[in-house]
Amino acid sequence: MRVLVVGGGGREHTIIWKLAQSSRVDKLFCAPGNAGIAKYAECVDIGVMEWDRLIHFAKEKQVELVVVAPDDPLVAGAVDAFEAAGLRTFGPRKEAAILEGSKAFSKDFMKKYHIPTAAYENFDNAEEALAYIKTAKLPIVLKADGLALGKGVLICNTLEEAEAGVKTIMLDKQFGSAGNRLVVEEFLLGREVSVLSFVDGKTIKIMSSAQDHKRAKDNDEGLNTGGMGTFSPSPFYTEEIDTYCKEHIYQPTVDAMRAEGREFKGVIFFGLMLTEEGPKVLEYNARFGDPETQVVLPRMKNDIVDVFEACIDGTLDHIDLQFEDNAAVCVVLASDGYPEHYEKGFPIDGLDAFDAKDGYYVFHAGTKLSGGEIVTNGGRVLGVTAKGEDLKRARANAYAATEWISFENKYMRHDIGKAIDEV
Ligand code: AMP
Ligand code: GLY
Repeated sequence: MRVLVVGGGGREHTIIWKLAQSSRVDKLFCAPGNAGIAKYAECVDIGVMEWDRLIHFAKEKQVELVVVAPDDPLVAGAVDAFEAAGLRTFGPRKEAAILEGSKAFSKDFMKKYHIPTAAYENFDNAEEALAYIKTAKLPIVLKADGLALGKGVLICNTLEEAEAGVKTIMLDKQFGSAGNRLVVEEFLLGREVSVLSFVDGKTIKIMSSAQDHKRAKDNDEGLNTGGMGTFSPSPFYTEEIDTYCKEHIYQPTVDAMRAEGREFKGVIFFGLMLTEEGPKVLEYNARFGDPETQVVLPRMKNDIVDVFEACIDGTLDHIDLQFEDNAAVCVVLASDGYPEHYEKGFPIDGLDAFDAKDGYYVFHAGTKLSGGEIVTNGGRVLGVTAKGEDLKRARANAYAATEWISFENKYMRHDIGKAIDEV
């Protein structure tokens, strides 16, 4: 089979690596890809929003399966466009991807179907939002309605911060049109868990759980980032919690989307907060998480082509989704200064150390080939993943492997998976 993956970060590198394990795959393409992906796939310099060019390329290369990984094209309707052109495509259509594309939609949806989430109000007018926050309990959470690179969420501890936040999002439009509407939400306390799932419209199968580390600095200090590291499984995601979520969150979400005429096929990512009152949904994403994918897929036993096809064909109930009984940790190597100002273009040494090392992986996020060398090309540069018998060993292995890599201005958190020690 000939497969095209749309995207070019660490998540896509992991998906491509997993596809390359499949005996059913003959040829892989990736648009735009990156220097690491180029090892497994032919990378083509087409952007993820250039759908006409992508369709033309896929048809010319006789691609039999397209996988759309990033949120932007999914939310904007890439799957609809590819399907209309006759391409078999994995991912939710636009009407379903709204689950991630509009936080106001997803909050109203959860309320309507009694899916546990934080209390909230939606606003499309800044004056009303300002009047409301004067009466609300602090701290309070402000969320831009639309996609904002994971940065459109502000946690405000004082009324002044909240007022400034409303202004930033709705009046100054720091996140562009994503801030035309605002969700004002109750602050929840608890531990966060990321649960990814495969969905075929009716059936949902849960992948092994994971936990992300969103802040830039150790001890969860510093600015929010795309994710500085992950571990899987989460020891806090117990069987009891899993049972509760299956009954009250996962299947109800899939059923309710169908009832709304928005049948969801693809990956739903449940961002959960484990609160004292039970698990609540912080957010839905309509795609694999980054860097959750880097610790979840290396532990998945199934051929991913079988699973993608089952989601498209509505036969996921026939798939016995299985994960290895071990653990994985991913430590992101970033450019010092990320997520604000950083330099790039530095040569990366040590990548070869991962070749033929079982259970160790280096997934490229922001790299490129320049004059025959692989150089840094983004804030998040690489994700170093290692497996281990348990979380502690996986963590020790991952941190050992971070030492194999060197580049100027290499930066990482040193406390990825620290929560494991509390178990
Ligand atoms: P989101 O994009 O909605 O997942 O929000 C980004 C991050 O903000 C989450 O991963 C949480 O760490 C935090 N967050 C979002 N909503 C809340 C909430 N209601 N209470 C506490 N923290 C939150
Ligand atoms: N790691 C969080 C996300 O992919 O949105």
